[in-house]
Amino acid sequence: MSDILLADDLVRVLIDEETIQNRVGQLASQINRDYAHLESTLILVGVLKGSFIFLSDLVRKLTIDHVVDFIALSSYDGGESGNVRLLMDTRENMEGKHVLIVEDILDSGNTLDYLMRNFRTRAPKSVRTAVLLDKPERHILPIDIAYLGFTIPDVWVVGYGLDYNEKYRTLPYIAEMKPQG
Ligand code: XMP
Ligand code: MG
Repeated sequence: MSDILLADDLVRVLIDEETIQNRVGQLASQINRDYAHLESTLILVGVLKGSFIFLSDLVRKLTIDHVVDFIALSSYDGGESGNVRLLMDTRENMEGKHVLIVEDILDSGNTLDYLMRNFRTRAPKSVRTAVLLDKPERHILPIDIAYLGFTIPDVWVVGYGLDYNEKYRTLPYIAEMKPQG
């Protein structure tokens, strides 16, 4: 850890690469166990863009039958209920299938609340969430996370898919950003 040279606007490494990889392995094992006796293929839906690295590490550790799909959303600040907008929808038909939403981070809960409600109208057999990071201090809406990586404090984080203005997404660790003025 001490040999990592941090960019100037990063404060510290919050979760290092090895810790992330171990935890993702544990989550994959749990998913493999929980969905071991599926009568249908599990659909994993990655929420773009933030989840793409978490999703790609997770799916490569799955031994169960699964397919990968994606959805893209945009969220607005300051809105009330309709502050999440669908930019690109999934392609797989969810009817009668088990669905696992894969998200980078749970903040207010608006995104996952929107997705859970939207997907339930498509008559899937089940819908659950796998979330790498949770900021409990920020919750506005209650969200049930079936598979959680890590709980973190209310700071802006980047790396492992997460960005600041598209920067730092491909860092192999998760770092805390300096507050931007
Ligand atoms: P909500 O409020 O809908 O937010 O739960 C989820 C989305 O907010 C973004 N988000 C972050 N992205 N570092 C990021 O790079 C962060 O610290 C952070 N906090 C929230 C993210 O897009 C997530 O999907
Ligand atoms: Mg996101």
